[in-house]
Amino acid sequence: MQKWTPSSWRTKPALHIPNDYPDVDALNAVEKTLGGYPPLVFAGEARRLKARLADVSMGKAFLLQGGDCAESFKEFHPDNLRDMFRIMMQMAVVLTYGGGQPVVKVGRIAGQFGKPRSSPIEVRDGITLPSYRGDNINGMDFNPESRIPDPERLLKAYGQSASTQNLLRAFSSGGYANLRNIHKWTLGFVSNTAVSQRYEELCDTISDALDFMEACGVTPQSTPQMAATDYYTSHEGLLLGYEEAMTRIDSTTGRWYDTSAHMLWIGNRTRQLDHAHVEFFRGIENPIAMKVGEGLDPDELLRLTDVLNPDNEPGRLTLICRYGHDKVAKGLPTLARAIKSAGKHVVWSCDPMHGNTVKTASGYKTRPVDHIMSEVRTFMQVLHSEGCWPGGVHFEMTGQNVTECVGGSARVVREEDLSSRYHTHCDPRLNADQALELAFLIAEELNGYRKADAAKLAV
Ligand code: PEP
Ligand code: CO
Repeated sequence: MQKWTPSSWRTKPALHIPNDYPDVDALNAVEKTLGGYPPLVFAGEARRLKARLADVSMGKAFLLQGGDCAESFKEFHPDNLRDMFRIMMQMAVVLTYGGGQPVVKVGRIAGQFGKPRSSPIEVRDGITLPSYRGDNINGMDFNPESRIPDPERLLKAYGQSASTQNLLRAFSSGGYANLRNIHKWTLGFVSNTAVSQRYEELCDTISDALDFMEACGVTPQSTPQMAATDYYTSHEGLLLGYEEAMTRIDSTTGRWYDTSAHMLWIGNRTRQLDHAHVEFFRGIENPIAMKVGEGLDPDELLRLTDVLNPDNEPGRLTLICRYGHDKVAKGLPTLARAIKSAGKHVVWSCDPMHGNTVKTASGYKTRPVDHIMSEVRTFMQVLHSEGCWPGGVHFEMTGQNVTECVGGSARVVREEDLSSRYHTHCDPRLNADQALELAFLIAEELNGYRKADAAKLAV
């Protein structure tokens, strides 16, 4: 295998990276500037996440990864960041309590801009333009100027990622995440839905437990873990020029880390063995993930695993499965068996979003919440029956009350409601109610497996 460098990907075929920047010198200059900017994360944090994911791979923790399909310049607002952080904290509380395990929280945030698109062009009313590819590449407005790739957007995306990361750090360690604030995280709920009531009840139970512990001398002062949380960032490592610029040698280990995020993943469309993305990812030390789905054959998966995690290090590689509710039962078992019989350590995570997108008659892309939940359930059943730990979920979601995915039982979103608050810059996201409801359902499933396994051990 050739020697890896942060730029060795440049000799390989690269899909979904724009090659139509009108001024390549300007792009090179921006990448050079980025190369001199401060890292967004510290290598030691990425190592800590890897250790937490190693726990997940061994069945001792659960991964909750989620956030926007695509962050945007327009939706950049502290309230939106707070709401995203808050809904993930609420989900984590539900999963920790119900599932009885620590939850590793990873946002699709602070860098999730660039998108692979199924078509390079978009046609509207007989006019053909290049597709929108994410705010760090071009603009969403449907006019020729806006669709031209502009390298200055990379600098803006870096700046937005840096201040997002800064606020997330403040939320995690500045007091907001203190378990004693658990009731305050619910202020976003306006109506008394069944799911919000259920959450309130859970908070009451946890508060009682905290009172009891406090009486025994265990307080946020004596046990700092109760006063803060670890919240990690991730995005698809699509634009390798940007990722290369953010890749630095860690002075404490002498190894290369991509400092744009704690964790990065390879998309379903860019995971070819001999292509640029796999080449870049094999050389960085961060915990990484790869989307897997329909059509990936088990031998190829094993070859990819060998290249991406040659030392079989637990926590290094997460496989994010994205089949579709009606395809996962057919596709997943052969992959699970191959990985298990080869003795590979991986985290198995379920992305129930990307295989369940449908278009309504009125032209909206949506995802039925029922199908989302059904894919998670089948994913868990398949892995459990193969003797593997269904270790996590990967959601496209928002803390806002949007109407993008149909269904849910708290406040049902019907097809005719989609137009009222459809704000996504790319794929349809779960709203806060739908996300919390799914957390309860997943916690119930996890609890069921926990009890069944405990009963087996007791026999
Ligand atoms: C995504 O996660 O937004 C995405 C494009 O997914 P996939 O690579 O699985 O299609
Ligand atoms: Co998406």
